[in-house]
Amino acid sequence: MLFADVVRSMDLAGQLDSERLREVMSELFNRCGAIVQRYGGTVDKFTGDGIMAIFGAPIALEDHAARACLAALEIQREARRLASEVNRRDGVEYALRVGLNSGAVVTGRIGVDPTSYTAVGAQVGMAQRMESVAPSGGVMVSESTARLVEHTAVLGDPQLVVIKGSESPIPARLLQSMGPPRWPQLRHESALVGRDTEIGSIAALLDDALAGHGHVITISGPPGIGKSRISRELVELADTHGVKTYSTFCESHAKDMPFYVIARLLREVFHVSDLDDVAARGRIRARLASADPEDVQLLEDLLGVGDSGAAARVPADARRRRLSHLVTSELAARRDPALLIIEDVHWIDEVSETMLTEVLAMVPRTPGIAAVTYRPEYRGSLHHFADAARFVLAPLSDSQATGIARELMGADPSLGTLTEQIIGRAAGNPFFVHELIRDLAERKIIDGEAGAYVRHGDLADVAVPPTLQAAIASRIDRLTTGAKQLLNAAAIIGSQFPSDLLANISETEHDRIEGELSELVHAELIYPVVMTSFTEYAFRHPMIRTVAQESQLKSGRSALHRRLAGALEHRANGNNASSDESAALIASHLEAAGDLREAFGWYMRAGTWFVNRDIGAARANWQHARRIADRLPVDERDLMTMRIAPRSLLCGSAWRAGGSVADTGFDELRQLCTDSDSQIPLLMGMAGLMSSLSVHARIRESAELAPEYVARIDSLGDRTLTVALLFAAIYAECLAGRMRTSKRLAQRVIDLADGDATMGNVLTGSPLAFATVMRAIARCCLGEDGWRADFDDANRIAHQVDPTTFVSTVMFKYVTGIALGALVPDANALAETSDALDIAQRYSEDMALGLAQLARGMTLIHSDQGSRRSEGFDLLGRARDLAMRERFALNEVAIIDVEIAAESARIGDVDGAIRSAGRVLDDLERSGGALYRGAATTVLVTSLIQRRAEGDLARAQEAIDRLASTPTDDGSVIYELPLLRMQASLAAAVGDGGLYRRRADQHRSRAQSLGFEGHILIASATN
Ligand SMILES: Nc1ncnc2c1ncn2[C@@H]1O[C@H](COP(=O)(O)OP(=O)(O)O)[C@@H](O)[C@H]1O
Ligand SMILES: [Mg+2]
Repeated sequence: MLFADVVRSMDLAGQLDSERLREVMSELFNRCGAIVQRYGGTVDKFTGDGIMAIFGAPIALEDHAARACLAALEIQREARRLASEVNRRDGVEYALRVGLNSGAVVTGRIGVDPTSYTAVGAQVGMAQRMESVAPSGGVMVSESTARLVEHTAVLGDPQLVVIKGSESPIPARLLQSMGPPRWPQLRHESALVGRDTEIGSIAALLDDALAGHGHVITISGPPGIGKSRISRELVELADTHGVKTYSTFCESHAKDMPFYVIARLLREVFHVSDLDDVAARGRIRARLASADPEDVQLLEDLLGVGDSGAAARVPADARRRRLSHLVTSELAARRDPALLIIEDVHWIDEVSETMLTEVLAMVPRTPGIAAVTYRPEYRGSLHHFADAARFVLAPLSDSQATGIARELMGADPSLGTLTEQIIGRAAGNPFFVHELIRDLAERKIIDGEAGAYVRHGDLADVAVPPTLQAAIASRIDRLTTGAKQLLNAAAIIGSQFPSDLLANISETEHDRIEGELSELVHAELIYPVVMTSFTEYAFRHPMIRTVAQESQLKSGRSALHRRLAGALEHRANGNNASSDESAALIASHLEAAGDLREAFGWYMRAGTWFVNRDIGAARANWQHARRIADRLPVDERDLMTMRIAPRSLLCGSAWRAGGSVADTGFDELRQLCTDSDSQIPLLMGMAGLMSSLSVHARIRESAELAPEYVARIDSLGDRTLTVALLFAAIYAECLAGRMRTSKRLAQRVIDLADGDATMGNVLTGSPLAFATVMRAIARCCLGEDGWRADFDDANRIAHQVDPTTFVSTVMFKYVTGIALGALVPDANALAETSDALDIAQRYSEDMALGLAQLARGMTLIHSDQGSRRSEGFDLLGRARDLAMRERFALNEVAIIDVEIAAESARIGDVDGAIRSAGRVLDDLERSGGALYRGAATTVLVTSLIQRRAEGDLARAQEAIDRLASTPTDDGSVIYELPLLRMQASLAAAVGDGGLYRRRADQHRSRAQSLGFEGHILIASATN
């Protein structure tokens, strides 16, 4: 029962003339009436200066109490809005008081007017009294209502109030706000039928969870089968155990929006949607007091309440890792049980999917349950989650479906075979049963009250829609034109939509929107969910949205997409960052509207925005741009440029983002560039292709392209471009062992950059730092001086530029230096690689994380014989994993496997060591990789000598000979020291003491003259 009354209406009457007064009052109560209706209530009567409404008569249910509360708050908001209008115009003030009470009332029709319901009884009086003690502008609820809504409402402390007609004061509470939207209370549902097994098992899992052994549950099945329903049953069950629920859902249009779903879920978990940014940050920081402050800032940015801009500094891979870690530790520390629900993960975005999979892995160690629902076509990582309890929802049996139909329709004999027809058609899908019955009722084939229908007309010509889609479509079709238009517009926005945005894009006149929304709510196509400051609605089922979207005429749909794009742009306007952020969404709507040229521009803009934040997302946008450019008509202005630009960016960035060489799309790019004589995009593409080949360990192919590539760069004669592009050739030449060429090109970059660390930083962070570290490697391999200084200079330069650049110079220094036997890690090496790993974990894409793990791993292995060694191997293993998933350089797998083989030999698995070292050598032979051949041959040869089975020494000799005859570029010394060392060992093994001493001496003195610490150490150990 709801009472609303104007405070001091007599004063108001005194200040306004009677006509204006009537106008103000009727405006106010019309709006209140619409609100009541929207929440499923009935306006009982208007009393000159007040309104009385009933929700859910005759029985007071929790659901109805919650609806009444939502309506009351909304009425107050609306009244405030109107009052300020009136104040502006007439200079008078007024406010409303609202009171609520719950309890059994007698209702009935009085007189002949069918619309005149009324309620009488003591409970009605109580509602009125609550209203009379409510503060002006406030909502007062009785104890009985408070009890029903306690768990979702924010209520003031109980207070004792004195009311008319009662001797002793009675308790009442002020309603402040309603908690986050909770669908069970805003929609009515038929009784649950069947699913006993599922509910039984879920109850057992919940008990288990409460005892501290959490579970992950997957619920799958086709649309309408009852996945959400089972989740809601789970929520109820959890509720009765006092378990808090956090839930969210995925949406079809947000599949490409990184972090979308996880952000929504965490917004629920951290409960910040009702706070302003400052308060929200306060709440988050209080809760995560012991976490890394920058991690917390990343979380704040994710939740949209940040002010630090941390997210802009940290690329997506690192953000994902850090947030995952943050949330997982938070979850692990949780002592109170919680239920997480993520619905419809067949629409989840990739980043959220990865993060959720990581976070959910913690659930079994908490007193919690996490449930995900999805359609059968989903096969992502949440489906494959190990140890999940899986529920695959089968169709209901005919008798179960009949149960639902009977509840909704009743069992009047006139229904005859209609029920069977419905059951036959619905094939065990409860939602289909619902929709078919609603369809029949709307067509007036059945008539009367829900649950007690009787049939009208002849059964013979009843056409029952053949599919769920058709049933929904025919229901939508039957709406009034206005409501249908509004529904269509809503479907374009999403499964949940704010009414202000809807008003913005629909053609419906603003003052009619409320009415149309009511029609849609009453048709049970949408339902209201209330946020704090504006009203949102949601589709009652995602299928309704899909059908509403697909059943529209193309032209109408295009216009809506266009207006939505415009509204989004407008909303983001004045704030450049936020329009960049929405760029991808705006682009997708423009594309759907058919405005291809504009869409192309927005996709490219989105790509640029993402490039340093999330290379994967940037590439996704370039791919869209590419697709659109290909759809443009042949006479489109700048068509060729538009087709080439995204391709060149895609090709140039492929190696950094992971993925295969084919992903570069180089051949097509080359063709387009040749046709249109475009040099620069082709060179960007070649840089990408060569880098991609290099990191896929196809070194020979990469190096073969280098001469042509360099010639093309030269022919441009552009200083900055030369600095920007040469890296790909320098790297390929280095990996292939053509050290003199590599050094010469590196030198050119160093000269041209002339100390400018960021000149030409389009594809790499600092061409100068890169060239310097490459010159270090070349000098080292050529036995020239200066390589140590180069390594240090490169690190110094890179340190000022950006984290990823620093991580790569550190990795080149230590991995190459150690593998060549030039460096032995010292305290400084340990410090530098520890820094690099830390930085990579916090600030780098996966690619650089792999580099840092590798550098750190190598350093630990070669500096320590104890526990740090195993930590080192652990890191190498992780880097290897990343590489195998194409997230890190596959060309580095060789050195990882060499280290692992050496370790196998050391712990006694000599056979294994020989096998894998042999395999690495074969691979290197095939790929053309030169840098690690010495190290691989050394492990093979020493293991063969160690095993000394028949033929092993001969095989060792062969391996040595093969290395010795491998052509090295112009004076490179990379194989010289390993060869001397192996020759000495083999001579010792065959008992040729003279040869042994000669080779050992040569080895030592050469190691000393070159200053190769690793070899010096080996030489002194063998003495
Ligand atoms: N076992 C059941 N008994 C009664 N009604 C059901 C049952 N399962 C689902 N429903 C009803 O069918 C409709 C569709 O179910 P829903 O859970 O939304 O499907 P899904 O999430 O699988 O698409 C809802 O109105 C729901 O209340
Ligand atoms: Mg669902």
